[in-house]
Amino acid sequence: MRVVVTGGSRGIGLAIVEHCLAVGHRVAVIHRTVDRAALRALGVPAWEADVTDEPRIADIWRNVTESWGEPPDALVNNAGITADVPILAMELAAWDRIWAVNVTGPLICARIAAAAWIDAGRPGTIVNMASMSGLIVNRPQAQTAYNVSKAGLIMLTKSLAVEWAEHRIRVNAVAPGYVATDMTQTFVDQNPAIGEDWLRRTPIHRMGTPQEIAMVVSWLLDENVGFLTGSVVSVDGGYTAI
Ligand SMILES: NC(=O)c1ccc[n+]([C@@H]2O[C@H](COP(=O)([O-])OP(=O)(O)OC[C@H]3O[C@@H](n4cnc5c(N)ncnc54)[C@H](O)[C@@H]3O)[C@@H](O)[C@H]2O)c1
Repeated sequence: MRVVVTGGSRGIGLAIVEHCLAVGHRVAVIHRTVDRAALRALGVPAWEADVTDEPRIADIWRNVTESWGEPPDALVNNAGITADVPILAMELAAWDRIWAVNVTGPLICARIAAAAWIDAGRPGTIVNMASMSGLIVNRPQAQTAYNVSKAGLIMLTKSLAVEWAEHRIRVNAVAPGYVATDMTQTFVDQNPAIGEDWLRRTPIHRMGTPQEIAMVVSWLLDENVGFLTGSVVSVDGGYTAI
């Protein structure tokens, strides 16, 4: 399988890239951060781009298709951002940016992929990286903009799954709880007590690993689960079960 992973330069995205390589997939990455040492070490082709830049993403999709000689079969919309800002203090530009990266970006990437698959008469599969924050309001940090964006991504997942089902395109989402990455480390660095609070509220009493999320993404990509579409799989140590 040929897989494009957005935000694959670190954290959960990098674990998805490593897992895909380990099971024999070809992988290409679209990411924002300048640090691509890990991808270089893995020999994975990577494009630095913003997922909200539709013409650029379309160019990259064409480049990837040309360099592989065949189109990608799968897209993992993993790139995402957050901000720990109470809503009354949040500038609307920051709200718009979170929505753009977490919802419009996945939509842009998804429709470029889907249009290419439909044109070529090929099936395809998309996995969106949502969050438990799209299902419940996790505390104590104030992150309304993030929560709303991930809820939007979950409904985008379901809507696209239904709209594109007739084209043999599956669209699913993963909703992780707290996972140990640079993103969560930034929160903990700003407020060390927050990490303990998260563990106390998580029944399994630990953070997830990026590899545990990658396993579920890989399972959703597998054509053996071809009846699975429009689903959201929670991987959160039991957080949303209580
Ligand atoms: N870490 C967690 O606890 C957690 C929990 C639930 C959901 N998630 C979601 O999982 C995904 C990955 O999280 P992470 O913790 O690995 O994050 P991270 O900050 O460590 O990595 C984010 C990746 O996204 C890329 N990226 C960010 N903005 C981009 C943009 N505009 N265009 C292209 N690439 C962009 C970055 O380059 C990086 O590769 C995000 O969507 C996040 O919301 C994370």
